[in-house]
Amino acid sequence: MSAYRDLRIDADRLYASLDELGKVGAFPDEFSDREGVCRLALSDADAEGRRLVKGWYQAAGLDVGIDRIGNVYATRAGMDMSLRPVMTGSHLDSVPTGGRFDGALGVLAGLEVVRTLNDHAAETRRAVTTAFFTDEEGCRFGTDMLGSAVATGRIDLEQAWSLTDRAGKTLREELERIGFLGEEPVGERTPHAFVECHVEQGPLLIRGDQEMGVVTGVQGISWWEVTITGRAAHAGTTPTSYRNDAGLVAALINVRLREMADCGEYGEMRGTMGVVCPEPGAINVIPGRVEATVDLRNPDDAQMERVEVAIQSDAAKFAEQHGVELTWRQTAKTAMVPFDESVQKVIAGIAEDFGLRYTRLIAGAGHDAQEWAAVCKAGMVFVPGEDDGISHNPREFSTKEQCAAGANVLLQAVLALADEDGFR
Ligand code: HGY
Ligand code: MN
Ligand code: MN
Repeated sequence: MSAYRDLRIDADRLYASLDELGKVGAFPDEFSDREGVCRLALSDADAEGRRLVKGWYQAAGLDVGIDRIGNVYATRAGMDMSLRPVMTGSHLDSVPTGGRFDGALGVLAGLEVVRTLNDHAAETRRAVTTAFFTDEEGCRFGTDMLGSAVATGRIDLEQAWSLTDRAGKTLREELERIGFLGEEPVGERTPHAFVECHVEQGPLLIRGDQEMGVVTGVQGISWWEVTITGRAAHAGTTPTSYRNDAGLVAALINVRLREMADCGEYGEMRGTMGVVCPEPGAINVIPGRVEATVDLRNPDDAQMERVEVAIQSDAAKFAEQHGVELTWRQTAKTAMVPFDESVQKVIAGIAEDFGLRYTRLIAGAGHDAQEWAAVCKAGMVFVPGEDDGISHNPREFSTKEQCAAGANVLLQAVLALADEDGFR
């Protein structure tokens, strides 16, 4: 039992840091009185957020290191520095219509943990590292959890550096441009354990009147870029039998994704066509070409494989029927990742100590923790969100109490894990 069991974070300070970070890349929501954030990976807004948090790390007296993929690690020394540290963290980058809590809560809850330890001159056996990781969202350079995946060996550094955005800028030149191409080699950090605090981004906790979630794992993810090539033609003069309409085939694939998800034959499948870019994009021209994306999710890897085969086979039939060409390029693929039972038990035990109503659930979104699970035991603390936990939307919102509850569980989980025996 940690000597610091009664320690609690400073909820006002945590929420004030969320408010301050939330101003970086902020934009007013057209449908509510809330503000969203747009901090695409390695953009000027992301860089500003990175500098703000890095400054907070330094002000807290932490030892800050930046690796070759731009991950930023801030370490508070433990009594035995020969032992592997406990790590926590998340991401600062956002989707274009992001909320103020996705990623930010995990980064700032980690900062609040070390600030609280500092306030009380608490001594931990193991060092505590809090961090933020590069390009978790994958919206700009095309693959998600990138920084964590490179740091833990799933994605090769050179391959990551060579990724380009729509303007043709490479990830490496953008890292250099914003001053976060670090010196530290990747793959040199192996924590004793990794715990991430994150908003649930869905309705389960709030609908179930739960105050917290113990995350059992992350469902599988499969991302594709689909290029559909037909033939541009006049919208008025071209009879339907003469058309090679790339836009129509994109729509047929999109409808088929929903039919597959609803039919129940593919488990808990989810399919989304988030990007659909018709060319030339003129009202009176049949789209000759469409660049689209397909985002597939499934907690069952075998079902995911079935979905990938089925959707590509159905799409091929649509292509044949409508005289268009199709290419599929996979841009992300992660299997279902189970989180360590012992870490789940630590988190659940703390929730019970605190008298919090909690439940176990699988993560619907991808998270940095799933990558660190490849090199150490890992787990997550979920915080409920208002408005059915809406996320990837400016209306994303969690109250100070909800955030503080999650951060306090994170604090105690970090303390418990930092006290553990285990190999060096
Ligand atoms: O797409 C995801 O699940 C995460 O938001 N990167
Ligand atoms: Mn996130
Ligand atoms: Mn996200």
